[in-house]
Amino acid sequence: MTDAVQTHSTPSDANAAFKPRVFSGIQPTNHLQLGNYLGAVKRFVDMQGSGIETLYCIVDLHAITVWQDPADLTRATRELAAGYLASGLDPAKSILFNQARVPEHTQLAWVFNCVARMGWLNRMTQFKDKAGKNRENASVGLFAYPNLMAADILTYHATKVPVGEDQKQHLELARDIAIKFNNDFGVDFFPVPDPIIEGVATRVMSLRDGSKKMSKSDPSDMSRINLTDDADTIAKKFRKAKTDPEPLAETVEGLAGRPEARNLVNIYAALGDSTAEAVIAEFGGRSFSEFKPKLADLAVAKLSPLSSEMSRLMQDPTEIDRVLEAGAERARTIAAPILKRTYDIVGIVT
Ligand code: TRP
Repeated sequence: MTDAVQTHSTPSDANAAFKPRVFSGIQPTNHLQLGNYLGAVKRFVDMQGSGIETLYCIVDLHAITVWQDPADLTRATRELAAGYLASGLDPAKSILFNQARVPEHTQLAWVFNCVARMGWLNRMTQFKDKAGKNRENASVGLFAYPNLMAADILTYHATKVPVGEDQKQHLELARDIAIKFNNDFGVDFFPVPDPIIEGVATRVMSLRDGSKKMSKSDPSDMSRINLTDDADTIAKKFRKAKTDPEPLAETVEGLAGRPEARNLVNIYAALGDSTAEAVIAEFGGRSFSEFKPKLADLAVAKLSPLSSEMSRLMQDPTEIDRVLEAGAERARTIAAPILKRTYDIVGIVT
């Protein structure tokens, strides 16, 4: 996690009473792509087995805050689980599960609906972006989304949350909810979770526009590498990736103001577990027509074993479901007592 930038850290002893615990989640929408892999899943793998307990969730209930075709949602849930497993997340080292199987998330989210203020949620930029001009027609779930996310984290008393830059504001909100709950009830019950924001080196941008994050929802499939793409498709997407007419810079500083060049260098570095400096030392001054095929070769070499393992796993959905079910059972052993204590604090008779 050398490139992780930790922001908003709590005073060093604020979470001292809590066992360090990592929680993160990804929505099962569309196909898993290179950005999720390098920016999220690969980091999840790195954090596992480091002595800290790790929980990685497939957040199906967040996915349905916008319309999902039911058959697609089912497929995407299993595909994301297969992606987790194929990337090296290990059910013996991490708790892997889908959110809806652990009802404590939604139960705690209701309590948080009553803690968070309308004004806080009104400020969420992701809601404004996703709701667009027609706010009146957005689902209530989309508005309350950050409260459920806070519940995901806090129902495990998780202290560390690896997320992308775009989730920083939601993490702030989770912290505000934890603080307000503790203040309202005069307890020190919830930790104030720290985001671990991805570093620039693992932030993968669109292949069509170096200023936009690579995204599962971009209408152009050429903008992203899906983990299910075959070798020819991967090579073609890199060949056609947007660049500028200059050759690669001779120094990393020389990539400033050249987002597309920077992105391809970062992808090469992240795939090869190397650094932008090392990539520039090797390819600085060379043309993109030379660099892009090398990048495609590296991507195919790294991703094809992963995608074949994913397809192998996808042939046995019953086994995937069994892994998720077993993960959910373990998750509940942590979540249920925390929900019970929350209800006790609030005065709810259970
Ligand atoms: N909102 C996150 C995203 O879209 C996904 C998510 C849901 C999440 N719950 C979470 C991430 C809890 C971290 C912790 O990327």
